[in-house]
Amino acid sequence: MRKKVVAGNWKMNSTIDEAKKLTSEVVGILSKEKQNDAVVVLCPPYPYLGMTRRDIGDSQISVGAQNCHEADSGAYTGEVSTTMVKGMGAEYVIIGHSERREYFNESDELLAKKVSKVLAADLIPIFCCGESLEIRESGNHLDFVKQQLTQGIFHLNATEMEKLIIAYEPIWAIGTGKTASSDQAQEMHKELRDHLATKFGDEIAEQTPILYGGSVKPANAVEIFGQPDVDGGLVGGASLNSRDFADIVKAI
Ligand code: PGA
Repeated sequence: MRKKVVAGNWKMNSTIDEAKKLTSEVVGILSKEKQNDAVVVLCPPYPYLGMTRRDIGDSQISVGAQNCHEADSGAYTGEVSTTMVKGMGAEYVIIGHSERREYFNESDELLAKKVSKVLAADLIPIFCCGESLEIRESGNHLDFVKQQLTQGIFHLNATEMEKLIIAYEPIWAIGTGKTASSDQAQEMHKELRDHLATKFGDEIAEQTPILYGGSVKPANAVEIFGQPDVDGGLVGGASLNSRDFADIVKAI
């Protein structure tokens, strides 16, 4: 059985008070209502990592960072290392979100380094991939996204790959209210799993969680998560609302 995962990506949102309230509400609701064994991860902005980890207490929720630098330490003003996020209690790191790729010019080559760095720190990368609307309309989306995996993670060895989580996030569905149909999500996820198998073999491909991201809401989560190759979600907007986020977790 593949691990099911729901990760909330808060992006650059929430004041410190809002972050505390959101965490305590999510912990409160899930401790009463969660009846599945999905892994739940909260990815707050860097400054709230330690606080969020402490506020979660001993409930079964993990913390993740939204990014990290590819070097161990040094003269990189404004950057944050894997050791730092790990020291704050993070267990996961989102790598290669389309917003990082686009606004911060993160290349496949850079992301390949970041993935290795995250694994070397014994953290779990949530490696993001996904196509723009233009690429989808050109009909080249399957090859494009497979290529992102080839460039970003195919340098890993089997032991490293066993730890990785993938998130497929079509850019045209992020924050737009448009979701990929469950058929579109399933088609891509199956294609990506088959692609992983060509490099890492069937066993690793079968056990790698592939999350869907892009306007996941309580109203569409059940159908999307019901697809055989969709193993959970990376949730942006809806993760800022405790009720919605908890309902998405329950939809697994
Ligand atoms: P969204 O964001 O759920 O707001 O579309 C998803 C993401 O960017 O991870």
